[in-house]
Amino acid sequence: MLFDLQPKTKREDLYDREKELKEFQNAINLGERLVLLLGIRRLGKSSLLNVALAESGMPYAKIDVRSLYFTHGSIPQEILARKILGSLLSTVSTKKSLRLRLEKMLNSIRGLKVSGLHVEFERKPDLAEILEKIDSWAEKEDIRAIMAFDEAQYLRLSGIQYDGLIAYAVDNLPNVTFVLTGSEMGMLHDFLGLDNPKKPLFGRYAREIILERFNRKQSMDFLRSGFEELGTEVDDGDIERAVERLDGIVGWLTTYGYLRGMRKLSEKEALEELFQRARALVSEELSTLIAYSRRYGLILKAVAMGNGTWSTIKEYVEFRGGPINDAKFSNLLKNLVKYGYLEKKGNEYSIPDPVVGKVVEGLQLTPR
Ligand SMILES: Nc1ncnc2c1ncn2[C@@H]1O[C@H](COP(=O)(O)OP(=O)(O)OP(=O)(O)O)[C@@H](O)[C@H]1O
Ligand SMILES: [Mg+2]
Repeated sequence: MLFDLQPKTKREDLYDREKELKEFQNAINLGERLVLLLGIRRLGKSSLLNVALAESGMPYAKIDVRSLYFTHGSIPQEILARKILGSLLSTVSTKKSLRLRLEKMLNSIRGLKVSGLHVEFERKPDLAEILEKIDSWAEKEDIRAIMAFDEAQYLRLSGIQYDGLIAYAVDNLPNVTFVLTGSEMGMLHDFLGLDNPKKPLFGRYAREIILERFNRKQSMDFLRSGFEELGTEVDDGDIERAVERLDGIVGWLTTYGYLRGMRKLSEKEALEELFQRARALVSEELSTLIAYSRRYGLILKAVAMGNGTWSTIKEYVEFRGGPINDAKFSNLLKNLVKYGYLEKKGNEYSIPDPVVGKVVEGLQLTPR
């Protein structure tokens, strides 16, 4: 169902994204070792990743790094190793002989015991060694093993040099492909440092697949197809107005479709509920940032209210929050771009998602 709120897992539930799926498959076919799947929030990265992995026909491990980070407050090697092995073993669970040969390969690591889906560590696991064994297994089987990390920028907060581990794998393990997604594109780029001579992945090649929002025609067609699938009659005028408000952000379009098609709400009710949900969601997403500096909130608010240039934004921020020096202010702005909350075109800053813009406009920022 197109309007299912969960990230999609099946090709038939995924609207379009043909070009991106092809590009992903092409990278795998060419044996590329590093693939990045980038895009602001709610554009369907996790859905695309799920479907691309399933369609690849290759064994894979998929780790939701964001939820791992928020569950544990960090990402210890042992937990990551457990997740990788659990996920990989489950994707090969139906292919018995393939799975048994993987099991045998992994059991040759000292201190690691694998049986079926059960993984036991008798001592602290060495992820590099585990990846080496996975690579050898994949080589023997003449397949690629895909290691997919959804929202991989959270790896940078783990206190462990996962960038070094990825660099080691990219350089030395030819049968493994790393796929990393990121909604905080600048943060992911900083973490990887493909163009930073001080970082281990410097100079490495990565395939970048950048997810864009749907255009107006696709957005309308997406809503129409979804309603048709549910047998719900919705006026074209309603659909046009929804796309006007939500733009081509598939996450919001899906929510709107769900509220109208499944919950049977009217246009007005559906939009009200959607913005209410968005307020809760976006406030939560922004809370850590704003707790760190209230000025992040002020900057976003300035932009949401129509201030687009460095100086007009700064003027607003100083008016509401007191003086701030230029360098510090520029740094905050730059970070908001890296987090994907702001977009910079020429000299103009804007909020890429109109729903987020609306929420930010109404944000109550308590005085310090
Ligand atoms: N191509 C698509 N066709 C149909 N529904 C989609 C598509 N892409 C995403 N969705 C839906 O949009 C919503 C957001 O998708 P998803 O979680 O995959 O996006 P995301 O970019 O990973 O979001 P986040 O940044 O929050 O992690 C979900 O409800 C999902 O089912
Ligand atoms: Mg996601």
